[in-house]
Amino acid sequence: MMAAKQAYTQEEIQAWLCSNLASALQVEASEIDIQQPLEEYGLDSTQAMSIVTKTEKMLGFEISPTLLWHYPNVEMLSQRLAEESAELGGEITDTTVTNQLNIIKPATLDLNAEIVLDPAIRPPAPSSRFTGQLDNIFLTGGTGFLGAFIIHELLQQTNADIYCLVRADDTNAGKQKLQHNLESYALWDEELSARIIPVLGDLSLPRLGISTEGFEMLAANVDSIYHSAAMLNYVYPYPALKAPNVLGTQEVLRMASLFKLKPVHYVSSVAVFESSAYAGKIVKEDDEFQHWQGIFLGYSQTKWVAEKLVKLASDRGIPVTIHRPPLISGDSRTGACNTDDFINLVIKGCIQMGCFPDVDYMLDASPVDYVSKAIVYLSRQSESIGKAFHLQHPQPQPLSHLVDWVSSVGFPVEMVPYEEWQARLINNLSSADNPLYTLRPFLLEKWSDEQITIPDLYLQSRRPKISCEETLNALAGSGIVCPPLDSQLLMTYSAFLMQNGFLSAV
Ligand SMILES: NC(=O)c1ccc[n+]([C@@H]2O[C@H](COP(=O)([O-])OP(=O)(O)OC[C@H]3O[C@@H](n4cnc5c(N)ncnc54)[C@H](OP(=O)(O)O)[C@@H]3O)[C@@H](O)[C@H]2O)c1
Repeated sequence: MMAAKQAYTQEEIQAWLCSNLASALQVEASEIDIQQPLEEYGLDSTQAMSIVTKTEKMLGFEISPTLLWHYPNVEMLSQRLAEESAELGGEITDTTVTNQLNIIKPATLDLNAEIVLDPAIRPPAPSSRFTGQLDNIFLTGGTGFLGAFIIHELLQQTNADIYCLVRADDTNAGKQKLQHNLESYALWDEELSARIIPVLGDLSLPRLGISTEGFEMLAANVDSIYHSAAMLNYVYPYPALKAPNVLGTQEVLRMASLFKLKPVHYVSSVAVFESSAYAGKIVKEDDEFQHWQGIFLGYSQTKWVAEKLVKLASDRGIPVTIHRPPLISGDSRTGACNTDDFINLVIKGCIQMGCFPDVDYMLDASPVDYVSKAIVYLSRQSESIGKAFHLQHPQPQPLSHLVDWVSSVGFPVEMVPYEEWQARLINNLSSADNPLYTLRPFLLEKWSDEQITIPDLYLQSRRPKISCEETLNALAGSGIVCPPLDSQLLMTYSAFLMQNGFLSAV
């Protein structure tokens, strides 16, 4: 039996962690920055395990490995461990500990209270109407997957110069980062490249990390804003993602309202409907999304709050369009996709395991070329202002179709009951070569009082039915059609993934 001998305070735990980290790193405890992400200390896994083991002994309970993901620096981890310590004070059994610690209990978070938009963000003067002129565009997320395709579409569909927010040391490096990203998706066009202009900054900082003069210059000259940047991390908790995803959106809205009105085309997500209140319900583009209880992922929570800020700005008179993609899959023409994204890693991991879980899950991913074309087209229609759009795939397919197809092209995979898949994940994976190996704690972690895992949370019965009828109506006549999720598309995707070595032929 393991007993929690006493409750420790945050300060005590913090001091303990700092002193142990300092001795492992052979530095003074005062040199430990409690807000620095733990992974940046450069500890090897033996050192990390030794600190975890000593801390468990001191506290008298086991530390769940995913706590380190959810509370990724000394300050946050100490605060959470102090809460656990207080909850578990007194004599307890191993079983009690395990049961309690396996449930992620996010610190009390009221997402409604997070909807705070600086009162200064409002249209400058009634005379400053937005004119529809489009010479200069400001875009965030241009070094990301969707952002690359939005840049490509804007280069094709407009004559505007595109000022792209980019994290880099200097403008040369910024331009190279943008170029490298577009090249990786086969989208770079040297002839149009002079219209892509890097703006150094950081979404998580005031004024997007741009100097006051630079920010004001952009605010005075930009005609339209596309906000696609966000930190897509499914493991971090809300506080770790708030600065880029929520406060960054506020800074984008600030730029939109300064000096002259300019529309903001905001890339949101269907995740705003992840609350259990929408389970099984049809949600339409203009439905309210007031429910947030039961949204578990910190990322989805930030997308909910950020879209609420955009809605508030719209209510104050700032012209906005809102675009909610589902999971975004590769380019239907070339197969080019983001091989680092969660869904690709899970599919690759399941192929390597030889099995997929037999769960009721509809694959509703939309190809990135459809999503980007639709965003740019819809953003340019005056009747789109104030509206939201669902870029959901109009004909989703059951997961079993994907699995049938994967086996038909020569990968030996089967569907096994979910519990068996979980058991194989726990018992059979021993190498980090399988991407599911590192995702294992995340996939097995139990959430909420119902103690369900992340795959459970996304079962069909727990998800809303996202209607895209209004969006399809708005796209009618544009020639923009979502490519079907058929064997031709899957062939294009797998050819790309095999060619670049992500999947190996069998
Ligand atoms: N991918 C999907 O399946 C999906 C589904 C629904 C909605 N969405 C939404 O679509 C948008 C684009 O997603 P994506 O797939 O293109 O993501 P991505 O490939 O991860 O790109 C994210 C972009 O945001 C930038 N960014 C992140 N933190 C930043 C910071 N602090 N300062 C400046 N830039 C920062 C990244 O810049 P760096 O290159 O410097 O990191 C990158 O350009 C996001 O708003 C996302 O929420 C995506």
